[in-house]
Amino acid sequence: MTVLKTARVRVPASTANLGPGFDTLGMALSLYAWIELKEAEQTAFHLYGDEMNGVPQDKTNLIYKVAQMVFREAGVAVPELDISMYSDIPLTRGLGSSASAIIGALVAANTLIGSALSDSKLFDMASAIEKHPDNVGASLFGGIITAVWDGKHAKHLRIEPDINLEVTVVIPEFQLSTSKAREVLPEHVSLKDAVYNVSHASMLVAALASGRTELIAEAMSDRLHQPYRAALVPGMTEILQDAHHHGALGVALSGAGPTLLALTDCRENRKAELEQYLTDTMSKQGINASVLKLRPESEGVKVYTEGNTLSFMDMIKGELMK
Ligand code: HSE
Repeated sequence: MTVLKTARVRVPASTANLGPGFDTLGMALSLYAWIELKEAEQTAFHLYGDEMNGVPQDKTNLIYKVAQMVFREAGVAVPELDISMYSDIPLTRGLGSSASAIIGALVAANTLIGSALSDSKLFDMASAIEKHPDNVGASLFGGIITAVWDGKHAKHLRIEPDINLEVTVVIPEFQLSTSKAREVLPEHVSLKDAVYNVSHASMLVAALASGRTELIAEAMSDRLHQPYRAALVPGMTEILQDAHHHGALGVALSGAGPTLLALTDCRENRKAELEQYLTDTMSKQGINASVLKLRPESEGVKVYTEGNTLSFMDMIKGELMK
């Protein structure tokens, strides 16, 4: 098998759950990480941007380890890699930073060896590494995805986001690990709560697929994880209750948090009011938070064709200026 010289990819951030779709629904967002892999004599790392602080620069690095899984699976040896990464996705905030790294590494490594593995195989591998398919599915396929995963195989169906849908996220300054946010969840839930979530998640998917955005506020309600996680995110309960009075179509904890995500309609002119409301509510709880205005990203991971003559960072700077 021929190994290409360089593989470069851009991966979107993602939000998971969208309220009731715990470990099931995901949506790609217009915030990105870029990864470049090259076969090398000796493994080396070039990590750019504030979000890369503290990321390991040896063979324990997630990108390196995930790339090696691809090579093993395809029966190819590429033991040494030159790895570059730049990311605008905040770490451990519920915006899918680890999922984007996993998808970026899987797809870049697979590109390097001539795409030996199928997307469906990469999705299975990503779900097994991340332990749930929602973030990785969104980063891989783009748009909104609804996924099922049996522990081995993952399947998804993709929904094209409504053209008028926009996203406002409020990102608290503190980090919250997914494992900590999963520890607070109960082992068992009541049938009543299970039915509540099945009905709301089903309504949400139908509303998103058919453009019935007026149903989103009610459909995004959840009883499986948000009530338990509320104690970890000051201001969350109030925002979940009231954000729709300030111009949000619906609001949810983004993945395992602590970021909160509000869906908005671009034709509504209340973004400034919503932004003010979100930051004021956090600040009343003593939490500094920043707000980002994003869009759903229709495109999943993007592979750049070889022959790009710009350096890795020059290419990214060019894209960020667009
Ligand atoms: N579905 C996962 C959770 C997403 O809520 O724990 C984690 O990013």
